[in-house]
Amino acid sequence: MKVTVVGAGAVGATVADNIARKEICHEVVLLDIKEGVAEGKSMDMMQTAALLGFDTKISGSTNDYAKTANSDVVVITSGLPRKPGMTREELIGVNAGIVKGVAENILKYSPNTIFVIISNPMDTMTYLALKSTGIAKNRIIGMGGALDSSRFRYYLAQALGCSPSQLNADVIGGHGDTTMIPLTRLATLGSTPVTQLLDAETLQKVAADTMVGGATLTKLIGTSAWYAPGAAGMEIVESILRDEKKVITSCVYLEGEYGQTDICLGVPVVIGKNGWEKIIDYKLNEEEQAAFNKSADAVRAMNDVLKTLSL
Ligand code: 2OP
Repeated sequence: MKVTVVGAGAVGATVADNIARKEICHEVVLLDIKEGVAEGKSMDMMQTAALLGFDTKISGSTNDYAKTANSDVVVITSGLPRKPGMTREELIGVNAGIVKGVAENILKYSPNTIFVIISNPMDTMTYLALKSTGIAKNRIIGMGGALDSSRFRYYLAQALGCSPSQLNADVIGGHGDTTMIPLTRLATLGSTPVTQLLDAETLQKVAADTMVGGATLTKLIGTSAWYAPGAAGMEIVESILRDEKKVITSCVYLEGEYGQTDICLGVPVVIGKNGWEKIIDYKLNEEEQAAFNKSADAVRAMNDVLKTLSL
């Protein structure tokens, strides 16, 4: 099994590092346009193999797509990250051209690959990758929900004083500060609804903190985060390559599911060897569905911006 990670910035390098450490595949290729960066970071990671005890081979390449040939999964992280005060949406002009070009180049050498999209604005980049390549919808997965749900579990765990791994909690909708929807009503610790364990005010704060989780980190660090985005990307790749059939909230193309059509948005999906294989219907209540529709409107407006760009 082989994985390519495009973009050797902090997020891309962390995805590659996580995949290698977990030995999810035999080979990881890290590719970047900046001369030497992918090669250098790969070599640095390979020099941890003796210490960490993994056998995955990581290699770097400066824009030579031939090296990515026959990848089973390709993770696209390329493009600019957020700066403090910036929204993910402001990146569309630059990142759209990059993501489109990367997807086209990848398909020349790996025509059957499955894409995991991390570049922002993630929902629109996922939609763009699907529309511009025309490949089957199940082969394009946007990463946002996996990350946002992990942040939701972090904030819930902080409030509950419990282990994040014992929480089931999903964030659906868009991967934007105002478009994501932490599904508080359905979140559980073990089998107990968190609504029975935390008061409404605390739950509201948890949801609000989750929604600006990325922005909070961007403000603190000065650029956008990478540890959790990198681990979330790895989780999706792992579920594909090991055919785990994990339910992971991910950005996928909707054709009527959750009341939306012709849009890529975060919903719970089963992820396995064919990419995303099935959408799970959480049966939203009226309020949640209204929030989902509002999120879809905002993402659709962003998708419309694609038409104004000369791609
Ligand atoms: C984040 O939320 C990078 O969009 C990513 O941190």
